[in-house]
Amino acid sequence: MRIVPAARITGHVAVPGDKSISHRSLLIGALSPGETRVHGFGRGGDTESTIAAVRALGGFVDDVDDRELVVHGADFRSAELDCGNAGTLMRLITGLLAGKDGSYALTGDESLSARPMERIAKPLRRMGAIIETTEGHAPIRIAPAPLRAIDYELPVASAQIKSAVLLAGLSAEGATTVVEPTPTRDHTELMLEAGGIRVMRRPTSVTVHPGTPKLDEITVPGDISSAAPLLVAAALLPGSDLTVHDLGLNPRRTGLLAVLERMGARIAIFERRREGREPAGSVQVEYDELVATEVGAAEVPAMVDELPLVALLAAHARGATRIRGAQELRVKETDRVEAVADALRAVGARIRTHEDGWTITGVPQRLRGGRVDSRGDHRIAMLGAIAGLASREGVEIQGAEAAAISFPGFYDLLETVTHQ
Ligand code: S3P
Repeated sequence: MRIVPAARITGHVAVPGDKSISHRSLLIGALSPGETRVHGFGRGGDTESTIAAVRALGGFVDDVDDRELVVHGADFRSAELDCGNAGTLMRLITGLLAGKDGSYALTGDESLSARPMERIAKPLRRMGAIIETTEGHAPIRIAPAPLRAIDYELPVASAQIKSAVLLAGLSAEGATTVVEPTPTRDHTELMLEAGGIRVMRRPTSVTVHPGTPKLDEITVPGDISSAAPLLVAAALLPGSDLTVHDLGLNPRRTGLLAVLERMGARIAIFERRREGREPAGSVQVEYDELVATEVGAAEVPAMVDELPLVALLAAHARGATRIRGAQELRVKETDRVEAVADALRAVGARIRTHEDGWTITGVPQRLRGGRVDSRGDHRIAMLGAIAGLASREGVEIQGAEAAAISFPGFYDLLETVTHQ
């Protein structure tokens, strides 16, 4: 797909429902007896994998319409589950199934099969689970076993590992505590609490008591990670003024907004409210000149999926930007440290890689443009599109269709706000 340079971005839009919260609504909905109605569900390749997994486990999922569905509790019969490209699904469901009565086999696509899975298997085994990985990766096999609670200190800041342990904790004897090196997204604990589970949330740890959640109804706010390419495009193109409505604004997800602001973009947040327990609101971004910044480990979890876009911003900002403490990017859908460096170099940016991030020398002008290979990674495809809008000659994206993993309709929506 070819993305041609744009003059500016303007308008008012909404984006699909949050992917992290949508996965959790299905998984926790499958645990809930009776019906759970999900409004604002974010459909995409990854969440379709979760719908299929819940169905394979005996749960009914009724598609009411494009943004609404109803989940009926599953019986967790033995099953083989294809998790596709979805790391969140594979890791969370492993925790959820570890204390169930069935036997399960979990597979994924080539990218997911290369991602580390011992990070969840280890704490779950300490809880008594019987789990086998394939040399540390998928396929994963789970056999029935009674679980006991543990106190677990996460070796890396990861909401997926935290959530796997918390979901296993629901069927463990005793109260399970997870301690985090840096706070990560807390959607699992918020949703369990909404479902009546006894949860104690502290700044860097959380405890859950065993029990069966009962959700009834949940509204998923828009995905800030899907809004991010649009917000960044507005920050890059002079004269832009874009508002994204109905966005999830959980403070553990909004690191990009803080970075945009300190780099010089004009940000306004309004219509602040709560969707259940999740903060939500509307975000307006207006272009202004950008300056370099620093991002360190403490900030990384709150913008972990937006860091490729922060690198693109940095390439257009005056001065040198250092992004460190982001070694987790090496084990995402692709090695995003290398994928981002290759993509940005291909369009003319100056970027150096480190084991845990990049140093980017920004120039406050348009980059040349060129050819970006998504490597099948949705975030890299969308990065290529925004790089193209802000370039002089445009960008040819190879594997552009990967965007549909989290954001089907991304290119169409982008077109509605783009001015040539
Ligand atoms: C997610 C957590 C993050 C994030 C991923 C979604 C989640 O992964 O990168 O896209 O829904 O819990 P890690 O927990 O591995 O950092």
